[in-house]
Amino acid sequence: MRKPIIAGNWKMYKTVDEAKRFAEEVKERIPSAEAIDSVICVPAIALDSLVKEAAGTDLKIGAQTMHWEKEGAYTGEISPSQLNALGVEYVIIGHSERRAMFGETDETVNKKVKAAIRHSLHPIVCVGESIEVRKGGQTTAVVRSEIEKAFHGLGEEEASRIVVAYEPIWAIGTGESATPEDADNVCETIRNVLSELYSETTANSIRIQYGGSVNEKNIDSILAMPHIDGALVGGASLDPESFLNLLGAVK
Ligand code: G3H
Repeated sequence: MRKPIIAGNWKMYKTVDEAKRFAEEVKERIPSAEAIDSVICVPAIALDSLVKEAAGTDLKIGAQTMHWEKEGAYTGEISPSQLNALGVEYVIIGHSERRAMFGETDETVNKKVKAAIRHSLHPIVCVGESIEVRKGGQTTAVVRSEIEKAFHGLGEEEASRIVVAYEPIWAIGTGESATPEDADNVCETIRNVLSELYSETTANSIRIQYGGSVNEKNIDSILAMPHIDGALVGGASLDPESFLNLLGAVK
């Protein structure tokens, strides 16, 4: 009953021309949006071109971050209303790279999630543990805390519009994916936390992706897991054929 969602996160890769070529190549071959949400989260410089390129197709465009304020003296930032004006539909919030390198905290994640919802954007909220946390047996505690703080102050209807991406930090860009069973266990924990915060119906409606070294070879086993509703994919989303194959793995 939860529609699968596969999202590419291009990070700081591709020029605008390269991004446009990618979209031209894939846009007519994207599976129907009735069956799956297919998203690419592209560098900010390419958002405008790609929204135009993807118009009228089943390819959806997302940003990789944004500020929570509508406008203001925030040099270098992009606001939710600016994303609205472009026609962007999704936004990644709290990616571990932004938490580690750009000062993103659980508090700013929560402000951004609320701002995204206010502006009718679909937030993809990232949570996940470091290798030290995992080795110390603290994965559940850390992920629980990140979820509780990200969803703080949100009602049932607002919560149901959020996509959660569980991304163990040690699996990102390393080629070392979590086992499907491990990933599924944490995603089940996330859903249990959500059902403590919200009704069973709302918790069951929230989509949870896995991210971390997902590729054409391991996507089938990941998507076969009951608590995993899709994937947030970095490296393997950069090549058009690879991206299409990832979408094609959704049965
Ligand atoms: O947002 C995507 C993740 O950071 C995963 O990246 O697929 O290159 O490991 P990756």
